[in-house]
Formats: sequence, structure tokens, C-alpha cells
Amino acid sequence: MDRFVIIGGKPLHGTVRISGAKNATLPIMTAALLTPGKTVLHNVPQLRDIHTMAKLLEILGVRWEMVDHQLTLHTEEVTKQEAPYQLVKTMRASVYVLGPLLARFGQAKVSLPGGCAWGPRPVDLHLKGIKALGANVILEEGYIIATASKLHGAKIVFEISSVGATGNVLMAAVLAKGTTVIENAACEPDIEALANFLVKMGAKIDGIGTSKLEIEGVDSLSPTEDTMIPDRIEAGTFLVACGMAGGDIQLESVQPRHLEMVIEKSREAGMTVEATGSILRLKSDGRPKPVSIKTAPYPGFPTDMQAQWMAWMCLAKGDSLITDTIFRDRFTHVAELLRLGASISMEANTAMVHGQEKLLGAPVMSTDLRASACLVLAGLAAQGRTVVSRVYHIDRGYERIEEKLQGLGAEIWREEDVPIQ
Ligand code: EPZ
Repeated sequence: MDRFVIIGGKPLHGTVRISGAKNATLPIMTAALLTPGKTVLHNVPQLRDIHTMAKLLEILGVRWEMVDHQLTLHTEEVTKQEAPYQLVKTMRASVYVLGPLLARFGQAKVSLPGGCAWGPRPVDLHLKGIKALGANVILEEGYIIATASKLHGAKIVFEISSVGATGNVLMAAVLAKGTTVIENAACEPDIEALANFLVKMGAKIDGIGTSKLEIEGVDSLSPTEDTMIPDRIEAGTFLVACGMAGGDIQLESVQPRHLEMVIEKSREAGMTVEATGSILRLKSDGRPKPVSIKTAPYPGFPTDMQAQWMAWMCLAKGDSLITDTIFRDRFTHVAELLRLGASISMEANTAMVHGQEKLLGAPVMSTDLRASACLVLAGLAAQGRTVVSRVYHIDRGYERIEEKLQGLGAEIWREEDVPIQ
């Protein structure tokens, strides 16, 4: 296992390029299953989760090759429709194969994903959606076993906005017979990108980017080529890095409209943010003003930025409240921030953060992807040396983050984490 060593206190300067969006690429990779042929994806981020998804597709019979940031998928020989527990338990997004396999082959056997560091991660909305489209679903020995002679259109109203359930149902509906309406659909840019990709394959979808999607099923789709959108969470993470370490940086390959709420809150905190086309220019020095946030579905404040924002507010000139309404237990980073000298108390799904002058470097441990990012950001600001262990979590969703930060002047390096004998 690797760890990061960070010597804090170095302001950031320079330019960094934001990679393609992990959470758009993952469902688009599974959408390729909907048709035989060669699919070519550009600007694909080189991440553990992308490699995990490629391995899952390979198990199903897909041949793939990744050259630099271009991923080619050959889906002529999809001979299996089973996603095994050993793989699904490592990445919840594996459940995205359910919709496409059901739509193309009329059957799918997908392991239930189980939980994660912050509690259970149900898939009841995914199952509700495919059942509405006519699938027969049973749960057996921890697996979802879904069959359908031919899916048919339906009206589906999701009680809560779910990115995964929207993606799965969308990919099942594009080949269903008739019209499907999804109300309270997730509007995240990742789902907008998936819908646009499906349209490029020949799907008929109206309402893209809104919470009401209308799909007219077609008989077949064709493989296509597409470029992945920029990762708004990586961009937001580097924005907070600039806030915490101070400095003047430029982010390239950003879609500012995808992180409007984060930009708005950062300006409230005192950061200078200038958006020009796909460039974000960020300037920050000194402690931020305290700004409370409450996470919400897009275009609200993203839950995937909650931990990073908390790290920044630990240095604020006052107190702030941070509430996660999406994942009520997504606070495993609090205990680690306390080790760095932060002052945080919890009340249900709200953290009360008492801003302080400084954080002090210490050894801390990653528990999940965004918590790891939060600890790296805290290390950039903390006085002295911070060691973040188990950075395989961060490698799931950030492409060579230590090299990108080094390029901005941060003193951070990766080394092997030698376990105590
Ligand atoms: C996606 O997860 C993202 N992952 C997550 O990012 C992100 O945190 C989340 O959306 C919310 O934005 C990918 O896109 C691969 P949801 P997903 O279904 O689809 C509840 C990261 O850091 N729910 O939108 O699993 C659920 O418990 C990851 O990159 C049900 O109750 O999230 C949650 O409270 C972490 N039943 C809420 O809905 C269901 O069937 C939103 O979850 C499905 C979800």
C-alpha cells in the first residue's frame, strides 16, 4: 500500500489540467454493452475505478484497450451476463451493467453491491425502475437475477433523485418497446453526458439535463465515439486546494457551469474565481470566511465535495455548519481532521466546524475516495508533516493527484507504506 507525505505551508502557483469525469465515464462504458461493435472513448481518466470497470466488462466478454486517455471497447462477443460479487464489492458502480445487459440480452445476474465506508448503499430504486419496464427480478444468494423477454415503456417516478438508478433505467429504456418517462430523474452532468452518448448511439431521449426524461425505445443502437466531459469534482477539489494552501492557480479543461454552486460558495468564502471558457483562474490568501453548506442533488452543493469543503472551513474565521442530506453518515473524515487539530462536533448529519488559525501535521488514514482528498488538502495547509496512508482510495478517483499538486508547487510525494512489523 502507498502513502502520501506532505509538508504543508507551500502556496500553489501554476496551471493544472482537469481529467475526464470518472462518474460520466463509468456508465458510458457500460452503455457500450447495448450494441455489438467498436466504441471509442476519448479523455478517459486513468483511474483504478475505470480499470475495475474495464476488468468487469472483460469478464462479460468485452475486449478493450486503453492507449493514453483513449479507451476502445469491442462488444461483439459479450458471452456472459453475470457481474460477480468479488468485483462488484470493490466498486458499487458495477451495478451499471444491469440495465444494458437486460436491454440487450433479456437477462442479467449482478451481485448486490453491499455497503461502503459510510453505511448501506441500497439499489431498491434501480430494481423498482427495471421492474416497471417489465423485468422479473429475484434476489438470490446476494445476487440480483433479472430477466425480461422484452422490456416495455413505463412511467417511473423516483421518490428521491438517484444518479445510479437514473442511469440504469435510462440504459434499459432506450431499447424497450414504447415510451418511458422518468420523473425526478438525476440531473447530474454525468447523467446528461450519458444521455447525450446514448443519443449518439441512436437512442431517442427528450429532456436531457432536466429531471424529466422521455425515452422513445428503438429496435437497435450503433456503437459510437465520444469525448468524456471534465471531472467537476476534481476541479472542485483543486479549487479548495487553492483556498487552503493559498496562491494563484489556473485550472484547464473545466466546465464552470458544472460547479456553479461550489464557485458561488467559494466566492462567499473570499476566493477570487474567474471563469473564462474552459479555464478557471483562482486566487486566495489567508483564512476563508465561514460558509455553511448543505449538500443536495445537482445543481445543489455536491456531496462529493462535502469532505473537501469541511477541510477548508476548519481554517475559517468563524463557525460553519456542514450538512450532508444525500449520505447522512458520510463523515468518516471528521475523526482524521480532529487528529490534525481541527475543532468539529457532530449532531446527526450536520458537522459544526469551529474555524481555527491553523492545523498541525500528523499521520492520518484514508477511509474512502473523497475523505482521502480532504486529508491531502488539509496536509497542504497544516504546519509540518502530514502522512496520509491507504492512498489507494484516492487513486480510485484522482489521476496522479500528487504529481498534479507537485506541478503547482506543493511539497508532496508518494512512498510505500511499510507496515509496522
Ligand atoms: C453516485 O453514486 C456517484 N457515484 C457518487 O460518487 C455520488 O456521491 C452519488 O452519485 C451522489 O451524487 C458514481 O456516479 C459512480 P445515488 P450513486 O444513487 O449513484 C439513495 C464518488 O465519490 N439511494 O445518487 O450510488 C442513496 O443511498 C462517488 O465518486 C437509494 O435509497 O448515488 C443516497 O442516499 C461516491 N436507493 C441517494 O439515494 C437506490 O436504489 C443518492 O444516491 C439508490 C440510491
